Amino acid sequence: MRNEDATGGFILTASHNPAGPDGDFGIKFNTAGGGQASARLTEAITERTRAIDRYLIATGVPEIDLDRPSASFIGDMRIDSVDAVAQYADKMETLFDFDAIRDAVKDGMCVRFDAMNAVTGPYASEILVRRLGLPELTVMRGTPREDFGGRHADPNPHEAHELRSLAYGEHPPDLLAASDGDGDRNMILGPHTIVSPCDSLAVLAANATRVPGYRDGLVAVARSMPTSHAIDRVAAKLGIPCVETPSGWRYFASLLEAGRISLCGEESFGTSSNHCREKDGLWAVLFWLNLLAVTGRSVPELLAAHWAEYGRTFFLRHDFRIPDAAAAQAVIAGLRDALPDLVGRQLAGRTVVAADDFAYDDPVDGMRSERQGLRLILESDARIVFRLSGTDTAGATLRVYIEDHTDDPARFNEDAMVALAPFAEAARDLARITQLTGLESPTSMV
Ligand code: NI
Repeated sequence: MRNEDATGGFILTASHNPAGPDGDFGIKFNTAGGGQASARLTEAITERTRAIDRYLIATGVPEIDLDRPSASFIGDMRIDSVDAVAQYADKMETLFDFDAIRDAVKDGMCVRFDAMNAVTGPYASEILVRRLGLPELTVMRGTPREDFGGRHADPNPHEAHELRSLAYGEHPPDLLAASDGDGDRNMILGPHTIVSPCDSLAVLAANATRVPGYRDGLVAVARSMPTSHAIDRVAAKLGIPCVETPSGWRYFASLLEAGRISLCGEESFGTSSNHCREKDGLWAVLFWLNLLAVTGRSVPELLAAHWAEYGRTFFLRHDFRIPDAAAAQAVIAGLRDALPDLVGRQLAGRTVVAADDFAYDDPVDGMRSERQGLRLILESDARIVFRLSGTDTAGATLRVYIEDHTDDPARFNEDAMVALAPFAEAARDLARITQLTGLESPTSMV
C-alpha cells in the first residue's frame, strides 16, 4: 500500500486458517501507512454500516487478470494488478545486505525454509533461491494450497517437525525457519537449537546496526506484555525505551505508524519493524541470514554471545484449552480477587514483589485498554502471567507465561522447561487450574 500510495487496502484472507467454501474467510482493512485499522477507525466504520441505506452492484464486469501485472478497466475505473512478490523482494534488498548473504551462500551456507504450503512459498523462492542463490531444495512445501496440504500452517516446533528433525540431525543446515499460513509469523532454528521468539526479538534488536536497514540504530522497541524481558535488557543497554503493550498487533501498529518504535515483537512468533506495519515472517528470517553472513557466527554462537552479554531469560508458555468458558473465567476471577494479598507471599521459593492486572494507555491515540492479563513479579526478575485468549462458545484458552532470568553462565544451556518447572507448578497451584477446570496438565507448551 505504501509503494502504491494507496489510501487503504482490503485484504481478503483466511489468516492462518484453511480457506475455501468450507473453511475460513475474512476481510481486513489496512490504512495508508500499511498497518491494521485502529480501534477508533474500526468503530467509526461499524457505526457507518448501521446507516447504509443502499448499495449498487456492477454487472457485466470483465475478468480481471490477477496472474500478472496488468491494467484493466471497469467502466472508468482503472484496475492495476501488481506483482507483490517482486515489490516485497525489492524492499528486502534495501533492508538487508544481499551481497554478504550471497557470499556466505557461495561459501557453503545451508538454509531450509518451510513455507508450510502457505503464502510465503513464492516469496521465499524469489528471494532465497532466485536472488540469493540458494538451491531449490532450500524451500520446503513451497506451493501455496488452500488447505495448507491438510496440515496446520503454524510455525511451532510441533507442526514444523521436519525442520526440527533436520536441526537435530547429523548435518544440520546453518539456518532453518518456517512461517505461518499468512506469512506473518516466524520460527527460527539452528544446529541443535530452537530459538525462543523472545530471544530472537532480543538478538535482532541487539544486532540491528549490523544490518543496512537499521544501521542508524533504533528509536525505541516494543514487546507484548507476556513476552519476556530479554529485549528490555537490550533496550536498557542501548539507552532506548522499550514499550510494553497488550497482546494484539494493532498496539504495535499504532506505535509504528507514529514513528515511536522501530522494532517490535511478541512471544507468539511475531516480529517486525517500521518497514511495514504488520508482523513479517520472512523479514525475520532474512534478518537472521544477514546476521549469520556478516558475523560469521552460527545460530547457537549468536545466542551464546547474546546470553554472555545480557544473561539468559528463560521463557515458556503453557496453554490450557478449557472446554467450559465459565470455568476459565472462574480461574481468572479467582486470581484477580487474590491479587491484593499476593504481594509478600512466597511462590516457588521467591517473594512476590508486585501483582497487578495489566492496563495500557496508548500514547498515540490515548485509548485505554484494561484487564489485559494478570502479572505476578517475583524477586530476581522472575514473572508469571495469566491471560485468557480465544474465549468463545467452544471454550477458552488460559495461557500461563513464565520467565526467569540468570546471569550465571553455568545455567545458560539449561532446558527452559527444567529451569522453569518450579514456577509452572506454583502457577498451576495458585490458579487452582486442576480444581476449577479438571485439567491435570497443559494442552500445549511452547
Ligand atoms: Ni498468521
